[in-house]
Amino acid sequence: MRTKIIAGNWKMYKTVQEAIELVSGLKRELTAFSGVEVVVCPPFLALDAVSDLLTGHEIKLGAQNLFWEKEGAFTGEVSGHMLKSLGVTYVIIGHSERRQYFGETNETVNKRLKAALANGLLPIVCVGENLQERESNRTFDVVRDHVTGSLAGMSKEDMLKTVIAYEPVWAIGTGKTATAAQAQEVHRFIRQTLASLFDQPTANAVRIQYGGSVKSENTAELTAQPDIDGALVGGASLKADSFAAIVKNTVK
Ligand code: 13P
Repeated sequence: MRTKIIAGNWKMYKTVQEAIELVSGLKRELTAFSGVEVVVCPPFLALDAVSDLLTGHEIKLGAQNLFWEKEGAFTGEVSGHMLKSLGVTYVIIGHSERRQYFGETNETVNKRLKAALANGLLPIVCVGENLQERESNRTFDVVRDHVTGSLAGMSKEDMLKTVIAYEPVWAIGTGKTATAAQAQEVHRFIRQTLASLFDQPTANAVRIQYGGSVKSENTAELTAQPDIDGALVGGASLKADSFAAIVKNTVK
């Protein structure tokens, strides 16, 4: 049985004070939830304060990126070792915004993935096609390339610790959600790709989240699909009530 996972990617939103307010609100809204794992991924600056607030709480902490070296002369970077020391559990890797604006490639995603695992962090690896790629019928090719390239050289054991997030770029922040059927089709394809890279039991155990304009209204239909194991939520994770409603509407 795969436990559903709902993660909030706050992107570059929230000052430390605003992050504290949002997490305090979430703690009030989500006093008891079961059968679903909940993660919040604030900006780096707010991780320390949010980590303190989440001590002893079921909501887990995630980061939005990491650099692969442990420490050194890498101005502006944050390492897996540093994240782990703050009580971070998950880390998002290879988000399309990083691929698009910060030169992230499958190779750099792969290096970050290995660094995350080496530091005891659980990676959420993002894959997904853009509009042009979808319209030219290249969705499966692009997704296969992202999955295969990003996960190169991984052991089965490490794969079982890794979450995949399928985020079609055309659905991010646009209000255009993939239909449940469109998302399910790609999720099934990702699971088949994992089976060919690893084996069927490993593929069956890996969680694959959907991301792209997820809101409380479409959560139930998406998470009821057989290969959709939760959501990576952007905009709707920035308010306690809308994120809590997504958690509550997740089909277990
Ligand atoms: P939205 O939910 O705002 O479309 O963002 C999705 C996303 O990019 C999550 O990582």
